[in-house]
Formats: sequence, structure tokens, C-alpha cells
Amino acid sequence: MAQEGRSVYLEDITSDPIASQSETVVGLGVKSVAGTPLRYEDKVIGALTVGSTDAKTISDDDRTLIGYMANVITAAVIKAQLYGAERENRIKLSALENISEAGLTTLGIGELLNEIAERMADDMSMDWSGIILFNNKNGKMIVEHTSNGYSSLKGRDLSKPCKAINDMLAQGKTQILTGSGLNQFKPYLNNAGVKSIALVPVNLRQGRACVISVGKKSNGLFNKKELSLIETLSHRSALAIENALLFLRLENSYLETVESLVKAIEAKDEYTSGHSEQVADLARSTALAMGIDKEKAERIYMAGLLHDVGKIGIPSRILYKPSRLSPDDYNSIKLHPTKGYEILEPISGLEDIAMMVLQHHERYDGSGYPSGLRGEGILLEARILAVADAYQAMTSNRPYRKRLPVKDAKIEIRRAMGTQLDPEVARAFLSVLEKRAGLKEYRDRKKTKAKAKPKPKPKKTKKTLAG
Ligand SMILES: [Fe+2]
Repeated sequence: MAQEGRSVYLEDITSDPIASQSETVVGLGVKSVAGTPLRYEDKVIGALTVGSTDAKTISDDDRTLIGYMANVITAAVIKAQLYGAERENRIKLSALENISEAGLTTLGIGELLNEIAERMADDMSMDWSGIILFNNKNGKMIVEHTSNGYSSLKGRDLSKPCKAINDMLAQGKTQILTGSGLNQFKPYLNNAGVKSIALVPVNLRQGRACVISVGKKSNGLFNKKELSLIETLSHRSALAIENALLFLRLENSYLETVESLVKAIEAKDEYTSGHSEQVADLARSTALAMGIDKEKAERIYMAGLLHDVGKIGIPSRILYKPSRLSPDDYNSIKLHPTKGYEILEPISGLEDIAMMVLQHHERYDGSGYPSGLRGEGILLEARILAVADAYQAMTSNRPYRKRLPVKDAKIEIRRAMGTQLDPEVARAFLSVLEKRAGLKEYRDRKKTKAKAKPKPKPKKTKKTLAG
């Protein structure tokens, strides 16, 4: 029937020597049978057979009904198959999209690995997923980053304890570990409770490599489709990881360059040496005193370090002029917030800091530069930097003037409240100074007391002679 694609009707099965011996017929006592192929396009994909325990005539109506049922069943089977294939494709697509999206939006490598691992486990309905990123240093396989699944491995050298990983990376072949084969790997799995895992090794550029793995808590092995999906997703993920690493390297080297430029500027000029660091420190404390959260306060600290980076673009003869600045010189100097913004803005992840740097010379009453923003139109972070910067500048020596004593600088800050400076920020800033002064006084008092206090005389103890 399947071979020829024809329907078969046996009204008295006992007269057919082969069918009468079949297990179904003997077991069920079937005496008549009608069978029809399930046909889709020009292929036979199965057969429908119905039987009766009576030897009966199979009428034309019976034959039409069986033919109709065969069509309904064929349609249902094909629909189910198409749905399955479509669902699989959708999962594959959504997982791939998720991963490339994760690569673009996540900053840290650790976060990216977590994101990929989580999404892989979710999209593939796996119980566990983990990623190890290695850096090959002088033949050692140092674990540089991991997702949470392997967090205990960070910083370890896996070249000796885990020969399996080395071999796997050398061969570039996916490994399935299950049963006792998983034992050597179990110590690395953070007690994930998985019973079988698939590990996909991927070599990356610059001596790096990663192992991407998914695991099941059941004993079942991975089927062909799952393995193909795991491998596709792993290679796609490896690309995202590689891009993120490249990006991070670029960014770090850029940031290091910017920081070393700031230091270079300050080193050339004894008067501004350490200025940025002090501004950064005071601005962070002020932010915390205003109840700004720690993470944001750290961003303000960073902006403080970088706030004058735009001075790189100002000629040294103006920047280090030993006399008062002419209006032209002053106009050149006024370009430094914009130049700083232009340096920092292209660095991904520093956009917020670039904006703070751009606005650090804006004034509360709108008389600042470069845009003449006023009040709350100026970023709060920039208003904080402005107070710290003004105070630090007043209390430092300049070639053309001596530094102001702290108490006079405080008076100046109070005087500038509501004009140059945001009054609320200035108040918080002054409270930070008070607190620091109080602490210093307390410490000094303690020191003086300790000095003044006569040392207690050692008590006389009776000497006993050792027998
Ligand atoms: Fe500045």
C-alpha cells in the first residue's frame, strides 16, 4: 500500500495468506480491513488502516469515508510538522537576535557572558548554561572572565587541572559529558546539579578562547537538532564576545590615554597639579552629602578627574601665562569645556561624563559658558563640579595671585550662592567642608592629647629568682 500508494480493501482476511498471519489480525481477531495511504504532495507519509472483527462488505460509502479521514489526518500531521519547524526556526532566530542585541548593549564582559548564558538556557529550554573565557598566557590557560555558572573559576589556570578543556580547544570539537564522563568536570560547575552537558569550544583572536556550555538536569542526551542549535548559537555568541573584547580594549586604551593626558597637563604646571583629583574628591563627597546614590557619585568623581581634559587643546603659552589673562586669552580658555566634550563623547559609556564636562563652567544665573544655561537647566552633576572647581581654584596658588585662606573661600562660596552657584549644592558643599574640618580638628586634638599625656610609669613588680 505504501509502496504503490493505493488503497487496499480486504473483506475476508482469512482468504489472504500473508495478512491473515499478521500479529494484529490474529491478536485482535480482525476479519476485514481497509487501508489507505496518507499522501502529501507526491509523497506517501503514512497509512490509515481500519478493521472489523466481522467479515463484511466494504461499501463505496465506507471507502469514501476512509479516504476523507485519511485527508484530514494528513492535513493535521503536515500542519504539526510545519508548526514544529517554524517554532524551531523562531527559537533559533530569537536567540540569535537576543545574543547580538546583548553584544551591542552590554558593557562589561562579565555581564555580557551572563546575558548570553541566560538567554541560551531560556531560549533552548535548558536547565543551565555557563561560559568560560580564557586568556592563553605563556602556555597557561588563565580564566579571564566567566558567567555566573562558572564564577569559582575566575583567575585560575586551567591548563594543568583540566586537560579535557585543552584537548577540546585544540581539536575544536563539541564534547558531550554525561554519567561518569562528567565527574572530571563537576568541580567546575558551581553545584549546578546537571547530569549531562554539551561544551562547545571556540578559539578567539589574540590567544583567547571560550567554552560555551549548556546542561540538562535530566539524564537525556542532546539530540541532533539541539546540538546544531547549540553550536550555531555558540559561534554567534563568540562573535559578540570577540566584538565586546575588542571594544573594551579600544575603550580602555582611549581612557588611559585621556587620563595620562590630564596627568601630563597637570605635571607641566605646578599650580594645577592634583587639581582635578581634588575637585573630583570634593564633588563626590558633595554628591553623597546630597543623598545622590553611590554609583552616580562615582560618575561625578570620574567627571571631576576629566573635567579639564579639554585644556589639551589650549596653547601652553596661554594656559601657563604667569600674568593675568587678556580677553583674547580668556576666550581661548573658554573653549576647554567644548573641547573636553568632543574628546570624551565618542567613548561609549562616557556620554554622561562628557555632558558633565561640557557644562562645568555654566553658572546658576545663566552667566556661564559655553551655552549660558541657567538653574536646573544645568545638569546637577555639573552644578556640583562647578562648586568644587571654584573652591579648589580659590584655595590654590596661581602665578598671578596667592591662594585664599579657607575661611575667605567659604565666604566667597556663600556670596556666589544663587548667582554663580546653585545654593543647595553650595550648602551641601560647605557642610562637607565643615565635616572634614571637624574631623581634622578631632584628630588633631587627639594627637595633641596623646603627646601631652605623660606615659604611665611601669609598675614595680617583685622579682623572683628562678629556682
Ligand atoms: Fe574648567
